[in-house]
Amino acid sequence: MENDTDALIAAATAVRKKAHAPYSNFKVGAALRSTTGTIHTGCNVENVAYPEGTCAEAGAIAAMIAAGDTEIAELAVIAAGAEPVTPCGGCRQKIKEFAGPDVVVTMATTEGTQFSMTVAELLPGAFGKGHMGS
Ligand code: THU
Repeated sequence: MENDTDALIAAATAVRKKAHAPYSNFKVGAALRSTTGTIHTGCNVENVAYPEGTCAEAGAIAAMIAAGDTEIAELAVIAAGAEPVTPCGGCRQKIKEFAGPDVVVTMATTEGTQFSMTVAELLPGAFGKGHMGS
């Protein structure tokens, strides 16, 4: 039977096919379940002006916020590669904005390899609101 993580990987797999990645040819899909139980998805959207491209995780987070949800319960990201793709540094910070330290992020390949880490493991020593206290 499909579990919660399998459902996220299935959603990430589906949205990955829509990625706009003509420059890297590296399509990425991300899916997150918010604390309301809704799944939000995103894919990478590259641009001829390379730095303007956006990651799959950023797209999924934008979709979540646009839908009115604000908290990530679980997230999965998938790409085709020898090893599961891990979120870039910027995306780790973006995920942290909306996820607690124990939220599980599952990284997967289209061939079926996967592993999971918590947000705290992905971004140790994260910059947070507490650092701005006066
Ligand atoms: N990329 C993502 O969308 N998510 C990741 O976790 C890693 C990298 C994208 C950015 C760029 O479009 C392509 O993968 C190659 O870096």
